[in-house]
Amino acid sequence: MPNPLRGKNILLGVTGSIAAYKAADLASKLHQEGAIVEVILTTSALQFITPLTFQSVTGRKAYTDADLWAGEGHVTHVGLGRAADMILIAPASANTIAKLAHGISDNLLTVTVLAATCPLLIAPAMDAGMYQHPATSDNIAVLQKRGAYFIGPAAGHLASGLVGVGRMSEPQEICNQARWTLSAGGPLMGKKIVVTAGGTQEPIDPVRIITNRSSGKQGIALAQAALDAGAEVVLISAATQSPVPVGARLTRVRTAAEMLQAVLDETETADTLIMVAAVADFRPSDTAGQKIKKEQGLKAIPLEPTADILKTVQEKRKRTGFPGKVVGFAAESQNTLENAAKKLAEKGVDLMIANDISAPNAGFEVDTNQVTFLYPDGSQKKLANMPKSEVAEHIIAQVIAWL
Ligand code: CTP
Repeated sequence: MPNPLRGKNILLGVTGSIAAYKAADLASKLHQEGAIVEVILTTSALQFITPLTFQSVTGRKAYTDADLWAGEGHVTHVGLGRAADMILIAPASANTIAKLAHGISDNLLTVTVLAATCPLLIAPAMDAGMYQHPATSDNIAVLQKRGAYFIGPAAGHLASGLVGVGRMSEPQEICNQARWTLSAGGPLMGKKIVVTAGGTQEPIDPVRIITNRSSGKQGIALAQAALDAGAEVVLISAATQSPVPVGARLTRVRTAAEMLQAVLDETETADTLIMVAAVADFRPSDTAGQKIKKEQGLKAIPLEPTADILKTVQEKRKRTGFPGKVVGFAAESQNTLENAAKKLAEKGVDLMIANDISAPNAGFEVDTNQVTFLYPDGSQKKLANMPKSEVAEHIIAQVIAWL
């Protein structure tokens, strides 16, 4: 499944707020993610930013109230409203929110919203006092009841000089939220996918840990791809460097033992488990309660094996039937396919992704990967070196085919 923003008509409404300057960045981000971005500026927005700014980043005409009355104006709003897959109002002033709540349609933006039936996502921006005013809270509640989605506002410095809740959410967050909103109704709708990511951390003492080089990038990309397909996604994450995708339910864990417990809990009802995490195979037999001092000396750290999560899941699956399908990853530095095939059989997975970490531009930390799909019937499918996001899309395509 491609990014749900790709090829979609997003109507971006920009209203009168100093945050209007950030809307240009938002329009640019949506455009870069493949959306067709139409922009309507209210007359107040024109005090802060010009249509030319938006035209320059979207490559399309940006509309103003002048278009409501000129030429084909009388049908512009109906056309824009009907064509939109989503209307996004960012920044949304208290005034525009009030108008929308009451069905007032006295400018091109509000009349277009009234003519549209697509999802509406609103990113408010205003002074903290205006946001907290009962009139605004009531208007937001009315719109929410009608199905509108809201993002933000965030806390921070406001144009008034005060600090409080009223800042428009950051363009990247709004973009991510729009992506998730548009994924609704995808082929994995109603399916629960559990993804593990990152490297576990096994404590030696309160300061030191044993861990590995996993960045969590492939796991995060898989969670995103499952979300893009409309799934309910639980991300069980050890240490990772990438942000958690919007829409995923996050369970943070540190150790292999914590990850095992979280996986057993979450897969009780899961349709698919995708084990991307780099789980420690050994942990210190004892964790020192206090920081080990240099003077004490330390000749060796005795280790004991951790439980194999996939093998434990395999046993449970035989009894309960859950999770329905299981995908494993085999990170190998030599004899990749032989080792991965062995793990496929031992761990009882439906698909093993053999990951050649010695290949150039593959494995830990980088944004690309080199993988081969191995199936229980002995068939194999080698993918070209590609971005981890595309590897994730291929794996989710297989999950879609299964479910
Ligand atoms: N895995 C697991 N529990 C562990 C170790 C690994 O469930 N204690 C899972 C990983 O998440 C991955 C698969 O098993 O999906 C293969 O992991 P990998 O580290 O490649 O294999 P190991 O079984 O640990 O074998 P080795 O380290 O000897 O290669």
